[in-house]
Amino acid sequence: MEFITFQSKHFEQVLTIANSTLGANYLTVPYLNKYLNSNTYFAFVIIEDDEVIGFTSLVILTPKELKKTVLKEKDWFYELSKKYARIALRKQTIVHPNFIGKGYGSKLVELSSKLIESLCDFQLSTVWIKRSNNAMSTILLKNGFERTKTLHNYWKADSLENKYSCPECGTPPCMCSTEVYRKKNAPALTDAF
Ligand SMILES: CC(C)(COP(=O)(O)OP(=O)(O)OC[C@H]1O[C@@H](n2cnc3c(N)ncnc32)[C@H](O)[C@@H]1OP(=O)(O)O)[C@@H](O)C(=O)NCCC(=O)NCCS
Repeated sequence: MEFITFQSKHFEQVLTIANSTLGANYLTVPYLNKYLNSNTYFAFVIIEDDEVIGFTSLVILTPKELKKTVLKEKDWFYELSKKYARIALRKQTIVHPNFIGKGYGSKLVELSSKLIESLCDFQLSTVWIKRSNNAMSTILLKNGFERTKTLHNYWKADSLENKYSCPECGTPPCMCSTEVYRKKNAPALTDAF
């Protein structure tokens, strides 16, 4: 197993996995482009036998940028994060459907979380809550995260605007909820300096 930085040669395979796990057109080439050679957008893949098995992405944001990035409860996110200078928001984590349940998702979160630790003061993750599989919640809890809040119909407006379908809800709107997880024991800025 190789855990490496995401590169443009991985685009096609990552998009294929994303279309079947997150829904058609949820991830796009312009979106993935942001993760190449950036100081704030970070993405990693797991490779087995030259094939992409999994992908995870994170973005480093200030509290004000976080407020602009999230889709709902913007003021709540700002209050939660305002004492930290750099917040790592985990974006997508996906594993090829043929390799689900073999520990790859756990490895993606564990290794990327460790790598990003020195670049941020606080880690957040929004988890897509599904009827079929809530493995991501399990993975975050194992990696020292705690659940803070559930946000209902999180992607409703965004899915209508950007016209992506959800594997659970079908064509837009997506009515799924998200759960927000924060890494426990994040040092406050005052403690860190
Ligand atoms: C979420 C996802 C990345 C997990 O990857 P994975 O490689 O299957 O995960 P792992 O094999 O590392 O298993 C993770 C843990 O979840 C547990 N798990 C499996 N199914 C579960 C379920 N339905 N509910 C809760 N926990 C579950 C496993 O037992 C395992 O825990 P353990 O290590 O303590 O035994 C993968 O299922 C996926 O790509 N799903 C579709 C996209 C998605 O939902 N991404 C997350 C969006 S926030």
